[in-house]
Amino acid sequence: MPELTFFRSVYSLEDIPATGLPEICISGRSNVGKSSLLNRLANRRNLARISQTPGKTQSINYYSADGGFYLVDLPGYGYAKLPKSRRKTFSQLVDTYLGGRRELIGIIQLIDSRHGPVTGDFDMLEWVKNWNGSILYVFTKADKLTANERAKRKNMFAKEFSAENYVMFSARTRMGVNDIWAWINKTLGI
Ligand code: GTP
Ligand code: MG
Repeated sequence: MPELTFFRSVYSLEDIPATGLPEICISGRSNVGKSSLLNRLANRRNLARISQTPGKTQSINYYSADGGFYLVDLPGYGYAKLPKSRRKTFSQLVDTYLGGRRELIGIIQLIDSRHGPVTGDFDMLEWVKNWNGSILYVFTKADKLTANERAKRKNMFAKEFSAENYVMFSARTRMGVNDIWAWINKTLGI
């Protein structure tokens, strides 16, 4: 797997570099585990900032994968405690990124495995469904479920989503990390 290094934080659309290299972004509610997933993919503890406080990642953060493509950590949605003005800015930033970014070829959409989609997820899931690129649904924090619960969840999810495109994942136990890399490579055509 490629080495991931921090490239740039983007706070406004003019700051988004036109690289011409493919990008895969990581989307999901605040606190669902986006940054933890990135660190696990990188096999590094502190590449992306993790916090107990939701809403930590407030910029679009670019990580370079050996200079060949980018993984992009998006700010989480559904975080109600931010001032309204900031919330609007962030969602505008993300909306425009998702809607207009030519380099974007894949979306890793995170959902908490314990709850499934909840308020805030539905708009995003609806949007993602109609998107033209590759989508991987990743169900996070699977270590918090028993093996039995995971099997039940899997069956539920398989009915709801394309079975080919979802992964049960735990940043803690590494469950699913190889499947996520396999999907990334497939999406990149490697
Ligand atoms: P924002 O940047 O606020 O949008 O959050 P995020 O989606 O990047 O979540 P982050 O990775 O910061 O994780 C949020 C919390 O969930 C942290 O306390 C993590 O330690 C915890 N967490 C993330 N992944 C896992 C996991 O697989 N298992 C368990 N048990 N905890 C996890
Ligand atoms: Mg984060």
